[in-house]
Amino acid sequence: MRVLGLAGSPRRNGNTDKLLAEVLRGASSNGAEVKNIVLSQLNISPCENCDACFTAGICKINDDMQDIYEELMLADRIVLASPLYFMGLTAQTKAVVDRCQSLWAKKYKLHIPPLGSDRVRKGLFVSVGGQSLPNLFQPAIATVKALFISLDIEYTGELVFSGIDKAGDISLEPGALDRAYLAGQKLIEC
Ligand SMILES: Cc1cc2nc3c(=O)[nH]c(=O)nc-3n(C[C@H](O)[C@H](O)[C@H](O)COP(=O)(O)O)c2cc1C
Repeated sequence: MRVLGLAGSPRRNGNTDKLLAEVLRGASSNGAEVKNIVLSQLNISPCENCDACFTAGICKINDDMQDIYEELMLADRIVLASPLYFMGLTAQTKAVVDRCQSLWAKKYKLHIPPLGSDRVRKGLFVSVGGQSLPNLFQPAIATVKALFISLDIEYTGELVFSGIDKAGDISLEPGALDRAYLAGQKLIEC
């Protein structure tokens, strides 16, 4: 089983990175082949709403997103990790989400499986936010669910922590990294 991690924080080795690393370590301990892609290291332009993808489901922008399409097709499990930025996903993550419009077009305009029909795909959302508010993650969760529905990825749930602001705060949160490791193991069993 192949697990794809999409690391959406531009802060390297920050809170989301640490959680994602544990999720992938847990998945790997259960026999999965894991790949982590750091989105801030890639060149991914935002969607231009040109509708070119409506013809064949292919995005005309030739940049690093082409590699992400490929990796999404190869993955059985997808772990989307992004901290909250102004209640939503980081710009790096949202660019990837929006560029999945070509996969949305495959499904809803062309009526073909967006990532192929060779496997069942399931996904997990990992996030942190500096604030401690009720329903803090709901807007971001709604975005991730909309993405997963469009890509035929079953949303298995989220692993989110509020009140986590400074880099490294997640390491001080009791049980957080253990929960991430277990979530990674569980993702392979579900
Ligand atoms: C531009 C920006 C916007 C942010 N907006 C929010 C927000 O709306 N809600 C929140 O809880 N935290 C917000 N934060 C705080 C981050 O989510 C927090 O620092 C988090 O721990 C960063 O995770 P990382 O270490 O994985 O990058 C924001 C941080 C930045 C830099």
